[in-house]
Amino acid sequence: MRTLSILLVSFAVLFLLAQCTNNTPKPEPVTVQEMTPEAEQAYLEKGKAITAAAFAAMSAKLSAAMESGGVAGAVEYCNLAAYPLLDSLSKANNATIRRTSTKLRNPKNAAQGWEVAALAAFDQAKTLVREPKPRVRQLDDGSVVFVAPIKLQPLCTKCHGTVGTDIAAADYEVIKKLYPNDAATGYQPDELRGMWSIQFNR
Ligand code: HEC
Repeated sequence: MRTLSILLVSFAVLFLLAQCTNNTPKPEPVTVQEMTPEAEQAYLEKGKAITAAAFAAMSAKLSAAMESGGVAGAVEYCNLAAYPLLDSLSKANNATIRRTSTKLRNPKNAAQGWEVAALAAFDQAKTLVREPKPRVRQLDDGSVVFVAPIKLQPLCTKCHGTVGTDIAAADYEVIKKLYPNDAATGYQPDELRGMWSIQFNR
C-alpha cells in the first residue's frame, strides 16, 4: 500500500512537471491500475520482442540505405519509410507503436497523452544516472501500454550527433530541409535518445 501511494505521488508530480514543460497536447491522467504480476510480465516480454523486431528491421534498412545512398539518401529513406514499417508492425500486433523524444526531429513524433509523463520519467531517470528500464502500465480505459528507453549507438551519431563533426555539414542541410525545426542533434553514444511507446488495443 505504501509503495502504491509513493507511486501515485510520483506520478502526480511527474504529471505536473510534464504539464509545465509541454503545452501541447494536454496529457491524460496516467494510470495506476493494478495488473497481476503474470500479466505485467507477459506484456513486458511482448513489448520487448516487438521493439527488438522494430529496431532490427529499422537498423537493417538504415544500414542498407546508408551504404547505397550515403547519409543524405538514408535521411530521405527515414523520412519515407519509418512510418510504413511501424504501421505494419502495429497492425500485426493489434497495437499502436511509436517513437518519441524530448528533442524531436519530426514534430509528428511528439509525446501525446499518457506518453508525456512516461517520457518525463525516463528523462528524469537519466539525470539521476539511473538506468531507465522498460515498463508496463494499465491505463484507466483498460488498455495496456509499454514503454522502453531508446539509447544512442555509434551509428546513430551520423544523423543525431554533433553537426560539423559527427554529422557532415552537407548532410545536415538535407536534414534541415526536411525537418526545419530539428532538435535531435548533439547526442553521444549511450545517451538516452528517446522512448518506444506501444499501446495495445483492448
Ligand atoms: C541516416 C540518418 C539517421 C540515422 C543514422 C539515424 N536516424 Fe534517427 N532519425 C532520422 C530521421 C530523418 C528521423 C525523423 C523520422 C521521421 O520523420 O519520423 C529520425 C527520428 C528518430 C527518432 C524519433 C524521434 C524524433 O526525433 O522524431 C528516434 C527515437 C531516433 N531517430 C533514434 C535513432 C537511433 C537510436 C539511431 C541509431 C540506431 C538513429 N536514430 C539513426 C535520421 C537518422
